[in-house]
Amino acid sequence: MNKHFIAISDFTPQEIWEMLDLSIRLKKEWRSGGNPPLLKGKVLGMIFQKPSLRTRVSFDMAMRHLGGDALYLSPNEIGLGKREAISDIARVLSGYVDAIMARVFEHQHILELAKWSSVPVINGLSDYNHPCQAMADALTIIEKFGTMKGINIAFIGDGNNVAVSLMHIAAKLGANFTIANPEGYDITPVAVEAAYKFAAESGSKLTFLRDPHEAVRNAHVIYTDTWTSMGQEEEAQQREKVFPPYQVNAKLVSEADRDVIVMHCLPAHRGQEITDEVADGPHSALFTQAHNRLHAQKGILVKLFGKA
Ligand code: CP
Ligand code: NVA
Repeated sequence: MNKHFIAISDFTPQEIWEMLDLSIRLKKEWRSGGNPPLLKGKVLGMIFQKPSLRTRVSFDMAMRHLGGDALYLSPNEIGLGKREAISDIARVLSGYVDAIMARVFEHQHILELAKWSSVPVINGLSDYNHPCQAMADALTIIEKFGTMKGINIAFIGDGNNVAVSLMHIAAKLGANFTIANPEGYDITPVAVEAAYKFAAESGSKLTFLRDPHEAVRNAHVIYTDTWTSMGQEEEAQQREKVFPPYQVNAKLVSEADRDVIVMHCLPAHRGQEITDEVADGPHSALFTQAHNRLHAQKGILVKLFGKA
């Protein structure tokens, strides 16, 4: 298995399933009293160039539940590539900690960290992808439907980092992935090309649309995310003009499968990409999904550097 956790595309379906199965086991164990100290004495260094609630707290708590510890390094302290070269940071930090989790602006920076680090590097979100989120998303879908195979996932909104990882995990595990997004906000072609290769092996179907109504027809999962990702703040006004037809509201949800679940990686911009009615409504899986970050990441951590 790959030493680092940088992208869903780096793993075989079997390896992804191994991590998910472990997460399912650890979640059950945690609920019935606690986890064994599979990461006893291990420390995860967490580099953040952007804000975070879920990623920061769920990684920290995952380490604690497994007998380890986590160290938070804020943007001001590290100054990734500004105060110090990434190659130096990676070589210094990997002498202190047992694994590094990093949230960065440029995907290249994660690759650079991984290149120079002697310990596993975990991608906690870049401008290209968000693989830890996709693992929690798959876990949530599997808990609800018992499988990923044949599940119709409709992503409504920006073809962003979250969409890339969701598309890849769907294509790897045999779920059908449809996206409806405005022109100019397509998923980057290199990610789509890779997805087609994975889909050819799993039997997953990929569909790229402009019309959100067409996209949600027969959907078991409707997924949305912010219209403006971190780092794109200057484009926010323009995006707010283009994206309103892509709002996930009660009308759109009513056009999907009657047992549809609605997902959002959070943070949500209520009243923009999702309405309160939907976020707090009977189809919402938002908080289970957020909580599953904790359990999904335990599977990743233990597989990368624990005693499974
Ligand atoms: N979904 C997610 O990664 O949330 P945070 O930005 O709060 O970590
Ligand atoms: N697409 C969002 C996800 C946040 C978890 C962003 O990059 O800001």
